[in-house]
Amino acid sequence: MGQLILHTRQGLYETEATIGEPIVKLAKKQKIPWGHSCERGICAQCRTKVLAGAEFLNDITDAEKLRLRKAERQEGFRLGCQIQIKSPGKVELVHKPY
Ligand code: FES
Repeated sequence: MGQLILHTRQGLYETEATIGEPIVKLAKKQKIPWGHSCERGICAQCRTKVLAGAEFLNDITDAEKLRLRKAERQEGFRLGCQIQIKSPGKVELVHKPY
């Protein structure tokens, strides 16, 4: 488990993250509004900016490399359906669709 802070358009949510569970799935389960559609790294409706705790997350996936520009990835953008918590720690994310 890890501490997860999620900034959404509807407000701030603080919750616990299960290791290995994608953020979109976790948000859905906990009824946290985190836009998404495909859950396969294609639509980018789940576009997310990592504010803190990138070191506790999985590596950028091939789907993210294809969908997000290199400059975006360097600025900390990822896809919520691809992000998984890999080890316990404080992670802070903001939902930033295009
Ligand atoms: S839900 Fe479509 S890219 Fe994440």
